[in-house]
Amino acid sequence: MMNTQFIADQFPILKSQHNGESLVYLDNANTSLTPECVLKEMNAYYRESNANIHRGIYHLSESSTIKYQDAREKVAQFISADSEEVIFTRNATESINIVVNTWGRKNLSKGDVVLLSESEHHSNIVPWQLLQTEKKFSIEYLKIDDEGRINLVELNSYLKNENIKIVAIAQESNALGVVHPIQKIVEMCASNNVATLIDACQSAPHMPIDVQKLSPDFLVFTGHKTYGPTGIGVLYAKQSQLQNMPPFLGGGDMISSVTKEHSEWAKGPQKFEAGTPNIAGAIGLGRALDFISEIGWDQIQQHEKELTEHALTSHKNHSFIKLHGPLSSESRGPIMSFSVDGVHPHDVASILAEKNICVRAGHHCAQPLMEVLQVPATTRMSFSMTNTKEDIDKAVERLIFAHNLFA
Ligand code: ALA
Repeated sequence: MMNTQFIADQFPILKSQHNGESLVYLDNANTSLTPECVLKEMNAYYRESNANIHRGIYHLSESSTIKYQDAREKVAQFISADSEEVIFTRNATESINIVVNTWGRKNLSKGDVVLLSESEHHSNIVPWQLLQTEKKFSIEYLKIDDEGRINLVELNSYLKNENIKIVAIAQESNALGVVHPIQKIVEMCASNNVATLIDACQSAPHMPIDVQKLSPDFLVFTGHKTYGPTGIGVLYAKQSQLQNMPPFLGGGDMISSVTKEHSEWAKGPQKFEAGTPNIAGAIGLGRALDFISEIGWDQIQQHEKELTEHALTSHKNHSFIKLHGPLSSESRGPIMSFSVDGVHPHDVASILAEKNICVRAGHHCAQPLMEVLQVPATTRMSFSMTNTKEDIDKAVERLIFAHNLFA
């Protein structure tokens, strides 16, 4: 069983108050809180090793380079990848943009199809649309059912169309919490010679990921949802893809040689890391991933499942709450999107905020999904290891208050 007091003690911000109200943070899908060990690690970098990487033969620069490369190893270990397949980016959005603008620009043309799902985040829609205006390929969407699940039979019939070149899909929907059968999807795509991009932003903090077993062509996630800092993201690219992808941004550190007329690119991940990277961010992310391992997946998953089931029961006990997404804890993560009868999602969030209860209200950067759900917006609670059942009870109590206020 999770020692919730021990976990709470690791996150200094949980002791903060606003207008005399203790913090109840239920917006983990937006960004996770940062544990003390990550803060310390980044602080230590600036205090003890602050120098640019790959550019100095003095002690500080060497120490900084080692820490940065260690962080890459930690990310590789976290997803069972080879560190030569791990690229540091600013965030998952940048990671997807790299794939679109390198692999996509090279491999997509008129007549080709990029297959997404109806529940994708804008970061897995808009970059494809931007390239589409130039390359004239089509974008199609796998339909979702009432609980947000895709249909593998539909995927199978899409895959019979030889024009499908890539399936790009989030493992866990940021707006609905539904977890898609990614292993099966990747296998089906691979056997039809179709590439895969997995957006693991919402899954990486909640379940182990093994890219050797999963074998996607690309997988992305972000640091700030996995207890790391903002401004650091990850792109995993299979070695065979990485070697054939042209660079995205040009500049220092991504080359092996430059003449007045011509440049040669660095090999491996450095080819995609032009300029001075977010060194402290990478180091912080490495520490955050170690922190997850120290707590352990068994504990994290058990705790988050209990929270999810508790929230599902509370929601079901109140008929004025309409849940969007899976109604059971099967194949779902700790994200609850819902509507409160007669109350606009922004009003719901404001009423919760008065008690320092933080939830997100809006379209969750998934406007096409809102259109499918036929709602302008939803309210979303998202849990992490830092939450307790009491947090959920406080939020539900406030939902009752909001409903009564507007009824
Ligand atoms: N930050 C975005 C969210 O809240 C992705 O879901």
